[in-house]
Amino acid sequence: MRKPIIAGNWKMYKTVAESVAFAKQLNEKLKGIQDREIVIAPTFIATASVIDALRFSNIQVATQDAHWENEGAYTSSISPASLKGLGIKYVILGHSEKRQFDNETDERVNRKLKNVLKNGLKAIVCVGETLQERESGKTEKVIENQLKGCLEGIGLGDLASIVIAYEPVWAIGTGKNATPEQANEVHAFIRGLVAKKYNSEAAGNIRIQYGGSVKPENVKQLMAQPDIDGALVGGASLKVDSFEALVRF
Ligand code: 13P
Repeated sequence: MRKPIIAGNWKMYKTVAESVAFAKQLNEKLKGIQDREIVIAPTFIATASVIDALRFSNIQVATQDAHWENEGAYTSSISPASLKGLGIKYVILGHSEKRQFDNETDERVNRKLKNVLKNGLKAIVCVGETLQERESGKTEKVIENQLKGCLEGIGLGDLASIVIAYEPVWAIGTGKNATPEQANEVHAFIRGLVAKKYNSEAAGNIRIQYGGSVKPENVKQLMAQPDIDGALVGGASLKVDSFEALVRF
């Protein structure tokens, strides 16, 4: 019922030329796949060129952030209205690297989410605990708080445009992935929170991606878990063969 969604977050990798060449190669390899959503999130500066390279493709393009206003005196910020005009489908919000290096907060994610939705875009909202939080038994509390903050004031009707990404910070870029069971446990917990805040139908429909050292070698086991509906991939999304293998899991 829930269509799998495999997304590559390119972070600050690849020049514009490299991004375009890569997108074209991916497009060739992944042509015709319709039973899962395929998303790539290049750097902002490569976004327009990558969209151009992917006209009529089954690969959708995301950005790694967007502002809570459509225009204004916000030097360096990116308007979701421009992204919509360009053909962007998804916006990643609340990534732990934004939280860590750019002081992103749940409150800001929430404002951004509302504006992204208002512009008719979809969002991938990231949550996840640090190693210290996990080791001190706070994982559920942390996830609950993040989700509560990010989804504040978001109505039931908007849930279909939201994907949640569970990305434990300790598993990002470390080569140390959560075991499929560990990940599924948190996914099931998140689904329970959605059921509590909305209803069980919404909880059954919302897609939850896992992110953190997903690779061709572990994607199949992760995707086999009942509450894991997709993957948000950093490092292993940067090579054509590797991303292809992830999409085909
Ligand atoms: P890695 O796949 O490199 O661990 O990164 C995960 C991530 O942060 C995706 O958003």
